[in-house]
Amino acid sequence: MFIRRKKTWNIPEREAVPEEVYLGRRRFLSNTGYLSLGALMLSGAGAGIFGLFEGEKKEDIIKLARTTTSGLYPAKRNLIYSLDRPLTDELTAASYNNFYEFTTGKDVWKHVKAFKARPWTIEITGLVEKPKTYDIDELIRKVALEERLYRHRCVEAWAMAVPWTGFPMRELLKISRPLSSAKFVRMSAFMNPEWASGQSQRLWQPWPYEEGLTMEEAASELTFLATGIYGHELPAQHGAPMRLVVPWKYGFKSIKSIMRIEFTDSRPKTFWNTLNPEEYGFTSNIDPDDKRQRWPQKTEKMIGTGELRQTVLYNGYGEHVAAIYK
Ligand code: MTE
Repeated sequence: MFIRRKKTWNIPEREAVPEEVYLGRRRFLSNTGYLSLGALMLSGAGAGIFGLFEGEKKEDIIKLARTTTSGLYPAKRNLIYSLDRPLTDELTAASYNNFYEFTTGKDVWKHVKAFKARPWTIEITGLVEKPKTYDIDELIRKVALEERLYRHRCVEAWAMAVPWTGFPMRELLKISRPLSSAKFVRMSAFMNPEWASGQSQRLWQPWPYEEGLTMEEAASELTFLATGIYGHELPAQHGAPMRLVVPWKYGFKSIKSIMRIEFTDSRPKTFWNTLNPEEYGFTSNIDPDDKRQRWPQKTEKMIGTGELRQTVLYNGYGEHVAAIYK
């Protein structure tokens, strides 16, 4: 029988204070239906802790589109994926983002007004038995959504811990059936300069944003396609309507707002690797001894609380992924 040993760094979920608040909200959301966020306002105390914004209402920062799959959130949590730290506050996570299509600053939420997450299609193409362009809600209904608590670590040495909702990329592999000649997955984000000023102003950058994985990485149980966060759909700044989450890799690998997934036999060119191959390798697994980055990688700072933590190889997910790199 397969017995999952409890890791020494696990803490009981009830000890994670922000999560208690979040669990309360989950119950609230499921009792009242969707889009109750407008009723919740950022408190003065909260703004003091985050120090990121003053006076904005929660519904100004977290804008959600009502869609035909809204009723699927919150999804049941998969308890295999537990945390060694409290969850990051939702507003902190939603107001400190990287999304270069919109801005090079962290206040992405202020720059996404023109973005539209519906209608949206996801093209599955390349070396695959079942190429198809899916309407995003059709794809979401084809899979079983689940919630996972994952750590997220940016190469800039900030970190967060958030509840994603989505489905393992493995499910997409089952549906699309890549050919044995497929060695890599190339993912491309949207291209629309009318939505995203970075795509018209920073023309030297290789738009659209692209990322890639080996087939083995794509098939890892950890590799997740997120369509939601904090028990509801993704707001634009987190990569609506669907983004990758690979928590053992630096955050830039977790491409947002995906429109195209191509199975290929050659290693795809990726956004940051094209811009700066010395620093941003294709693999880019989290490694405290990584000396190539301009930010020291030994420690990471939790956004919101400022807590400093030691960075761990593979972001602590070695038991799931280390075998891939042997
Ligand atoms: N995806 C796209 N399309 N564009 C981006 O600029 N930035 C990456 C990644 N995915 C980025 C992207 C980086 S550098 C990080 S750290 C994470 O998104 C941040 O995810 P978050 O804002 O949801 O925390």
